[in-house]
Amino acid sequence: MSKPLVIAVDGPSGTGKSSVSKAVARALSVSFLDTGAMYRALAWSCLNDGIDPSDTARVAEHCRTLDLAMGTDPRSPTVSVSGRRIDREIRSEEVTAVVSAVATNLDVRADMLRRQRELIAEGVALKGGTVAEGRDITTVVAPDAPVRILMTASEEARMARRSKQLKVAVEQTRSQIIDRDRADSTVSQFTTAADGVVTVDTSHLNFEQSVQAVLRVVKEAVGDD
Ligand code: DC
Repeated sequence: MSKPLVIAVDGPSGTGKSSVSKAVARALSVSFLDTGAMYRALAWSCLNDGIDPSDTARVAEHCRTLDLAMGTDPRSPTVSVSGRRIDREIRSEEVTAVVSAVATNLDVRADMLRRQRELIAEGVALKGGTVAEGRDITTVVAPDAPVRILMTASEEARMARRSKQLKVAVEQTRSQIIDRDRADSTVSQFTTAADGVVTVDTSHLNFEQSVQAVLRVVKEAVGDD
């Protein structure tokens, strides 16, 4: 494909958004950007440096100077802070528990927006495109992207997937996921599709079917050029 291919994917947790987006980026040989991982990296760094995640001014200042590097190869995406790989650390329960506090900080969002746009442009320059996924990619980060998708799934399907992933009971994940989505939705609207955004409902799709559904949307939007 010769035109810059930016594919913006939003949606709540448990829709398969991250793994499907990564597979789509691999299939199209373009870059992959997990924007949630950027907020997680900041949350991890705050905890590591003893900064209270709810101290908005300190967190915003910390974000401004954060030496964050995102590896955007979809075959092995990486996250580093000050040269240290933290791919596993950012998925910990401790980080998950506080990440909404830093992601709902508006100064942090402004800083991350700039970084995310740069990373998307870098993917376009180096690989001809980027698949970027998160909560506000279709609406704020890349509202002009040629392909914009909202990935949804029923609450049952999302809980079941997440509990399988975490190897815990469905009921245990329910309140965590609902509470986090509720907190996150105070700053970005990711449960209904904005104008021009195509909804892909993965409730009854397996992983491969979800990847194919997204690739069909891409093909319809940009053709084979
Ligand atoms: O998708 P995730 O669970 O890794 O996201 C981590 C957190 O960051 C979650 O609280 C939602 C938030 N987030 C956001 O506010 N905007 C984005 N573009 C991506 C994630």
